[in-house]
Amino acid sequence: MALQIAPSILAADFANIQKEVEMLNQSQADYIHVDIMDGVFVPNLSFGIPVTQAIHKHAKKPLDVHLMIVEPEKYVEAFFKAGAAIISVHAEASPHLHRTLQQIHSLGIKAGVAINPHTPVSILENVLHDIDLVCLMSVNPGFGGQKFIEQTYHKTKQLHAMRTHAKASFLIEIDGGVNIENAPKLKAAGADVLVAGNFVFSATNPQEVIRQLKAIP
Ligand code: DX5
Ligand code: ZN
Repeated sequence: MALQIAPSILAADFANIQKEVEMLNQSQADYIHVDIMDGVFVPNLSFGIPVTQAIHKHAKKPLDVHLMIVEPEKYVEAFFKAGAAIISVHAEASPHLHRTLQQIHSLGIKAGVAINPHTPVSILENVLHDIDLVCLMSVNPGFGGQKFIEQTYHKTKQLHAMRTHAKASFLIEIDGGVNIENAPKLKAAGADVLVAGNFVFSATNPQEVIRQLKAIP
């Protein structure tokens, strides 16, 4: 199976958001990754609901919304209404994770769980059949353009083995510092979806970069 690619709009030119989304529409990207930061769960702010709506207005690809916020359950419905096709919440920000996953599913969209680099994949053991996607953070969330954390290969393999053992069917997504050097190793470790921000948007030809990532055998 070819890798699925989710360019992170956080690295796009926000003064030309329509143009950037249209560029992605014409590319081989599978999703548009939308990073929401609250300045509390993570030490940075990004953007919120109106900007997500604006992206959705022009997007022909499903929006993969990554909530890096405390109390994500309070905003799940608003991001669904803003056009999310997948909503991922952080396990570390969700004391009632199972309830939040049910809440997301009740809206008829896909539910994901993101975990920080230090969080073991075993935290997901009891929700493996309740999730459509696991987002393994390969940088500490909060900023684009950071260096990939090598331990992610090990976590990807562990999660892949857990999925096989449980006969579960969620997608394994890797988020942070992804580039053409680490992407083949991530695929070999069991990744299905790669998020890529700076690597795509700082390229002279972002569509070609997306094509190259998808072409990894
Ligand atoms: C980090 C975000 C990532 C980030 C990826 O907090 O969740 O999605 O935008 O950007 P790059 O690929 O530049 O690390
Ligand atoms: Zn993200």
